[in-house]
Amino acid sequence: MALKQKTIDLKRRMRDALQGGGSKAIKKQKAIGKLTARERILALLDPNTFHEYDLFVEHAAKDFDMDKKYLPGDGVVTGTGMISGHPICIYAQDFTVAGGSLGWMHAKKICKIMDHALKLKVPLIGINDSGGARIQEGVNSLAGYGEIFYRNTQASGVIPQISVILGPCAGGAVYSPALTDFVWVVDKISKMFITGPEVIKTTIGEEISMEDLGGAKVHAEISGNAHFYAETEQACFDQIKELISYIPWNNTKKADAFPKKAPRSRTYKLEEIIPKDPRQPYDVRDVIKAISDDSEFFEIQERFAANIVIGFSRLNGETVGYVANQPAVLAGVLDVDSSDKAARFVRYCDAFNIPLITLVDLPGYLPGVDQEHAGVIRHGAKLLYAYSEATVPKLTVILRKAYGGGYIAMCSHHLKADFVFAWPTAEIAVMGPEGAANIIFRNEIKNAENPDEVRKQKIKEYKQKYANPYVAAAYGYIHAVIEPTETRRMLIHGLEISKHKEEIPYEKKHGVPPF
Ligand code: HXC
Repeated sequence: MALKQKTIDLKRRMRDALQGGGSKAIKKQKAIGKLTARERILALLDPNTFHEYDLFVEHAAKDFDMDKKYLPGDGVVTGTGMISGHPICIYAQDFTVAGGSLGWMHAKKICKIMDHALKLKVPLIGINDSGGARIQEGVNSLAGYGEIFYRNTQASGVIPQISVILGPCAGGAVYSPALTDFVWVVDKISKMFITGPEVIKTTIGEEISMEDLGGAKVHAEISGNAHFYAETEQACFDQIKELISYIPWNNTKKADAFPKKAPRSRTYKLEEIIPKDPRQPYDVRDVIKAISDDSEFFEIQERFAANIVIGFSRLNGETVGYVANQPAVLAGVLDVDSSDKAARFVRYCDAFNIPLITLVDLPGYLPGVDQEHAGVIRHGAKLLYAYSEATVPKLTVILRKAYGGGYIAMCSHHLKADFVFAWPTAEIAVMGPEGAANIIFRNEIKNAENPDEVRKQKIKEYKQKYANPYVAAAYGYIHAVIEPTETRRMLIHGLEISKHKEEIPYEKKHGVPPF
């Protein structure tokens, strides 16, 4: 065949493969507000940068009449492209082809692009839209998942891994996203669960809809499996692009530096954020915005465990990761979920060379039977472990309360913060004045003629002595007591000074964190 004919043949083959599951299946996909796999990739990547590979891969299954079925690309699209001028590897499951189900060759395509991402040290983005293990391929489908999970784990901490759930993601399939760094869900489109409503009804008799079991809101707000929630697919792609601007391309790099910008100081005034009454709440995100370049803050897991705030912003053009107690929710206490959320983020920042800034204002760990039985000891320990292990620059600002275990856990001097600053409003003590006075002056209060009067007096005495930053400062546990308006300047200086920080951990295979 002459080149001309061969080219015509190639084009025909490409046309056949690119039709996916055909017009009927594509129509069904669109009718429920979903884009096709290739449309998703094109919407996410820089224009004209996507290059698809393994278009002609086909399944090799024979059982259940599979040998008579043609599944274009075996139901998954893989390739490389650019986001904001940086290279990435990507795959998107094509639900129009056998429900995006994962057979052996489908899994091999995914593994190939994962290996590619790891070898080239570029981020990997996986778009999940699948009925799960391809039932006709039996154990080979399970083997495929195992190969993917193994690679997710090998890639963890080396390249950023992003999962986007844009359809069903059921059974063991959920564990690939769960092993990755950031998971996106989209309203009404994403569904994630280990066992679906039918199985639940049959095995334990509970009835629940797919949406209530594993819809986008469930994972963004209750389970914490998702880091980001979007109303539409396009909004989700915009958020991914924004995230990518904050993180480095792999663990040997720093995130891109951007032009320095001052905070919008007319809107966010640091000296006015904390209320006069120390029991009143405020939104700690206002503090972050008052400090950060252009007052921008990219929040992660905004809807889950909102008593702690995590996310990225920039200081003098450089990415930093914030961990901040949120006094506006549960007074900013640490509990099972918030410890979990913060600990994982600290480890992410540490793995990817992102300095950590911790803002402290909390009454301690949340007391209660529920929390104790849910493992607040085990989960709380994750945060201690993550901060102690982290070797990136660690800067802490104590804004107001730093009581008890919360003082230690929120990147204190004792967990080897590089700089600890405290505002004059800081209160660093074993517990709040009310609780402390009731315990240590119990007998004096009980035996007094006027117990209420004596209690008030003792609380006042305790406050004068301990509800300030100066006792901790006297022991050298904080570097400087600073005016709130000094915060940005001190943090920028602290980051500058810590730029070449090098901390070599003890030689070991790895630690044993309280997972
Ligand atoms: C093979 C599958 C499939 C699967 C869907 N299809 N899931 N084929 N294996 N797992 C096919 C359907 O037969 C259909 O083919 C096409 O994909 C579209 O599916 P529909 O059912 O028509 O779509 P919809 O009504 O939107 O329902 C989507 C769905 C449903 C909710 C995902 O298909 C479903 O429940 N699928 C099975 C889910 C499941 O139990 N998966 C196994 C999980 S166990 P045709 O030819 O008719 O168009 C698992 C173990 C992994 O994954 C363990 C790893 C450790």
